[in-house]
This record gives sequence, structure tokens and C-alpha cells, in this order.
Amino acid sequence: MSLDLMFPQELISLEVSKLLPAELTIRPLASTDYKRGHLDVLSVLSVVNDLGEAAWVNQFHAMRAAPQTYYSLVIIDNASDRIVGVGSIFIERKFLRGLGSVGHIEDIAVDKSQQGKKLGQRIIQALTHMSENSGCYKTILNCSDANIPFYEKCGFVKKENEMVRVV
Ligand code: ACO
Repeated sequence: MSLDLMFPQELISLEVSKLLPAELTIRPLASTDYKRGHLDVLSVLSVVNDLGEAAWVNQFHAMRAAPQTYYSLVIIDNASDRIVGVGSIFIERKFLRGLGSVGHIEDIAVDKSQQGKKLGQRIIQALTHMSENSGCYKTILNCSDANIPFYEKCGFVKKENEMVRVV
């Protein structure tokens, strides 16, 4: 049975797909991925607060209903059919830069058992490709000091500061 995907598979760079080991697949998030451990992998990054599958599926559909805005992808371990890596890009439309767009990379996480095998780098490559293919004039993200070397390896440079007001 074919999967109900958040966006078409063709938007993911074939070149990046081919760089993954044969036992892994990169694909758009599917509406059944709650069961494949999507939140387990995200919990490597931050607090998840799991509200259950129905709420997760509602969020999936709400995000997909916003046209050309939310793109989440996953790396799947083919043998176990479990998610081992996740990442998202949010495409922000602007009035600036000739009605340009900016790609915001968000929520990158690789399962602890799979870290250090270039999966994070592949996720960033795939998301950056999608951002640039969408015509974004830049791709940006926030990260901790500890992750700066990782993003530098992915071709990003440090610029300006993040300000936050915590509720
Ligand atoms: N410090 C220095 N170098 C690093 C680090 C680090 N913290 N992390 C990775 N690298 C290097 C690797 O050594 C590798 O270098 P090489 O090309 O010379 O061999 C290169 O960066 C690529 O690393 P990957 O193997 O692709 O990294 P990995 O698959 O482990 O993914 C990630 C990195 C996503 C940070 C992962 O460790 C993780 O999930 N961490 C916990 C969650 C997290 O912090 N996510 C990022 C939040 S920021 C955001 O979401 C926008």
C-alpha cells in the first residue's frame, strides 16, 4: 500500500537519496509515521509531550493543508521500518527581496544509535536543496554552540544573534 505523504517524493534530491546506505531510505513524512517512532526521534532534540496518535495526525493534516509551506522528512531503517532521522523546513513568504522567500530549517534529530554516520548531514543537504529549489534567497536555522561545527560542515556560517522571550 502506498504511503500518504506530506509532499511529493520528487522534491527530495535523488543525489542525496543515493548517498545513503542501502538499508536506509529518505522520504517525506507520512500520515502513519507516528507509529514508526517519529516522536521518539524528536525527543533526542527536545521535550515532546506526546498527545497521542489522533492529535499527531491532525497536526500532520493541518501542516499539509498550508500550501508550499511545511516540509518534514524522515530517514527510515528499511529492516525495522522505524524512523532514525528527522528534519523540517518551513518556507516563509516575504514582501522583501522582490516578494522573496526564506527557508527555515527546524527540528533536526538523529537517533542516538545512528549518530556520526552522516545522516544529519544528508538531512540538511536534502532540506537545503528543497529550500533552494523553492527559490528561497537564503536558508537559516538556530542552533546551540555545540552544534555550530556540525552546521559549518554542512556549509552554513554564523551570522548575527538569536533573541528569545520565553513564556
Ligand atoms: N561537534 C563537532 N562536529 C560535529 C558535531 C558536533 N557536535 N556533530 C556532527 N559533527 C560533524 C561530524 O563529525 C561530521 O564530520 P566529518 O564530515 O568531518 O566526518 C559532520 O559533522 C557530519 O555529521 P553527521 O554524522 O551527519 O552528524 P549526525 O548524523 O550525528 O547528526 C545531529 C548531527 C543532527 C546534530 C545529531 O547529533 C543529533 O541529532 N543531535 C541531537 C539533536 C540536535 O542537537 N539537533 C540539532 C538541533 S538544531 C536544529 O534543529 C536547527
